[in-house]
Amino acid sequence: MKKTVVAALGILIAGGVGVLAQSGDPIGQRQNLMKNNQEQMRTLTGMSRGQVPFNAATAQAAFQRLEQNGRQIPTLFPAGSTQGKTAALPAIWERKADFDAHAAKLEQDAKAVQAGITDQASLQAAIQRVGSACGSCHDAYRRKES
Ligand code: HEC
Repeated sequence: MKKTVVAALGILIAGGVGVLAQSGDPIGQRQNLMKNNQEQMRTLTGMSRGQVPFNAATAQAAFQRLEQNGRQIPTLFPAGSTQGKTAALPAIWERKADFDAHAAKLEQDAKAVQAGITDQASLQAAIQRVGSACGSCHDAYRRKES
């Protein structure tokens, strides 16, 4: 019984339910979400390079997931979630509105590109646009690996 509840919670959190995401371990949750971002990008890049066959529906689903992830990001950086193993820079909480705007940019770009994906070339353009939304937030708000 308990196991089922825990598993169900896991699925809900993985699905990105904001209310649940606010409790517990926001650092772990946002790092998992970011890992999922990377996974989607890997799927998309593999397809744009022809390593896996082009499939518009699969690509759109990956961008849809990135759109949802972008929507979740602001809730996973609650004030004070700075203790522990995190690469999140303090600037996030000094300029939270700007940080949230970067998350909204990811959400909007990942949404905007979906309809235009018809072949490898348009997919590549979509990846570039969304990838730069990842990169501009990382440049400002994520600690560089040293
Ligand atoms: C609004 C800002 C923002 C956006 C947009 C964003 N990220 Fe991040 N990302 C961060 C921050 C901040 C961290 C550090 C989180 C931490 O360690 O607490 C991070 C961490 C990561 C990590 C490391 C996770 C780990 O294992 O610790 C990966 C991978 C990543 N991001 C990929 C992506 C990809 C791919 C995208 C775009 C699809 C993206 N991110 C979009 C802010 C952002």
